[in-house]
Amino acid sequence: MYNMNKYNKFDVLIIGSGVAGLSLALRLNPRLRVALLSKTRLSEGSSLYAQGGIAAVLDKEDSYESHIQDTLNAGAGLCSAEIVRHVVEHGPQAIQWLIDQKVPFSFIDDNHPESGYHLTREGGHSHRRVIHAADATGYAVENTLEQQVKSRNNIQLFENHIAIDLITGAKLGLQQDRCYGAYVLDRDKNHTEVFEAPYVVLASGGASKVYLYTSNPDTSTGDGIAMAWRAGCRVANMEFNQFHPTCLYHPRAKSFLVTEALRGEGARLLLPDGHRFMQEFDERAELAPRDIVARAIDHEMKRLGADFVYLDISHKPTEFIKHHFPTIYAKCLEFDYDISEEPIPVVPAAHYTCGGVMTDLAGKTDLSGLYASGETAFTGLHGANRMASNSLLECLVFSAAAAEDINSEAATTIQIPNLPAWDESRVTDSDEEVVVSHNWDELRRFMWDYVGIVRTNKRLQRAKSRVDLLLHEINEYYGNFRITSDLIELRNLAVVADLIIRSAQSRRESRGLHYTLDYPQTDLTSTPHNTVLTPTHKRATE
Ligand code: FAD
Ligand code: SIN
Repeated sequence: MYNMNKYNKFDVLIIGSGVAGLSLALRLNPRLRVALLSKTRLSEGSSLYAQGGIAAVLDKEDSYESHIQDTLNAGAGLCSAEIVRHVVEHGPQAIQWLIDQKVPFSFIDDNHPESGYHLTREGGHSHRRVIHAADATGYAVENTLEQQVKSRNNIQLFENHIAIDLITGAKLGLQQDRCYGAYVLDRDKNHTEVFEAPYVVLASGGASKVYLYTSNPDTSTGDGIAMAWRAGCRVANMEFNQFHPTCLYHPRAKSFLVTEALRGEGARLLLPDGHRFMQEFDERAELAPRDIVARAIDHEMKRLGADFVYLDISHKPTEFIKHHFPTIYAKCLEFDYDISEEPIPVVPAAHYTCGGVMTDLAGKTDLSGLYASGETAFTGLHGANRMASNSLLECLVFSAAAAEDINSEAATTIQIPNLPAWDESRVTDSDEEVVVSHNWDELRRFMWDYVGIVRTNKRLQRAKSRVDLLLHEINEYYGNFRITSDLIELRNLAVVADLIIRSAQSRRESRGLHYTLDYPQTDLTSTPHNTVLTPTHKRATE
């Protein structure tokens, strides 16, 4: 079945327009015809909301060895030393590329660029090495790259287009497996199209929406991870979901993040009675890596029955606060908190997916023609816990490498078979949308309650029983009813939840972000290992 109106042909299809997707598009050879998809508006995604900045060795007092060591320490024994070195050593040139694109990073004295770029500190870093644009770094980077992309004739932008699934040789029943494109729902026209491309990149962000409380925007539903898994790719380390220690606690704040850079510049964490507590958990106190700080807050909240702890920077001069943290200052004022005058209530929330689709140094996945970059990918950089501000750096370094690889591979012609149109002949409109909204809520709540900061065997088993039921119900629903974006995302979230639970169940120790009361110690008797899940639905070439 062929419908030419629904058939789009490109050289490269990029699924996602965050920093990973945009930077990759810009580094591709301008002779390649590129489709760049965003499931909502172009700028929406975690990248837009990044606050603290981007880690790189930019100060002469700092060194690659120090950035490498800090990253390895935060990663609790699971980082790949080779990947960490690769990323850290490519850091300065990734930042230079952003400067060349005209990202307006903050200077030590903004009136005097010759003063040099201001570098801030965050948890786990033993030096000031986080370059930033005040406290809205993501906004500055995303908007700058977006302007650049819009000026390129070879890049076609598709907003409100959500990828449903990858089209692969195995799914077409071919002997040779490869990714040939994707089925994509145009949300405005409510109509599914074929996007054909010999090179497809998953740059679709993380999966923190699988939890009830998250710092992430609505786009983080793990679509890339779920699509790659269904296409037969391995995923790794899904049990390591990072919880950011400090999101504003307010019914209307929707887990607004309060950057770690605030603690980097001296903010303290306080119990409701004003007692400072972090030094009782770690000698680095408020600047310990995130897993330690989030767990300490969770512990104190549970011990005291408190709904939140406080974060206080009011001892710093008002001008300093307004200059360094204008976004947070203004946002908190909206909720009647003046951070220059008083402490603010904060709680941890799901923030970052350390696991993902396994890739090599060039961003290649297990499936020929398919790449992954950014939060969707598992590269080996973060290990059991990502260090602050290493994420945007990873997006930039791996997108550059993937673009270079595609640029050289694109010289060879790939024969693409005729790709069938999306088949809707056996589905009808849903008569019970409530099933989708109910399952969304249920999934996110049990993931928060049973697979959160502190886990147990029993809680994980409870979560597993529930996700099995949901997967069954959702797959049945998916098979019978016309596709909607809520259904696409729910289906992906359920897959990702299952991968997280299975990974957590298989790890019989506590390490980094995975903490369980049943195995509270790190296993020091055997070699640290990543949790690699391999799909049982085999690909054609296997
Ligand atoms: P995203 O920026 O999340 O972009 C994902 C894109 O994929 C979006 O365009 C989305 O529409 C699209 N997409 C998803 N699914 C589909 C689909 N099915 N079809 C089509 N399109 C799809 N990291 C740092 O290093 N430094 C920081 O200071 C920092 N601060 C942060 C603050 C906040 C509040 C948050 C939430 C995260 C922060 N992080 C930070 C983490 C960092 O921002 C993210 O890890 C990074 O931006 C991920 O970039 P990405 O391009 O992989 O994904
Ligand atoms: C923050 O600014 O605290 C977030 C930084 C990050 O997630 O890397």
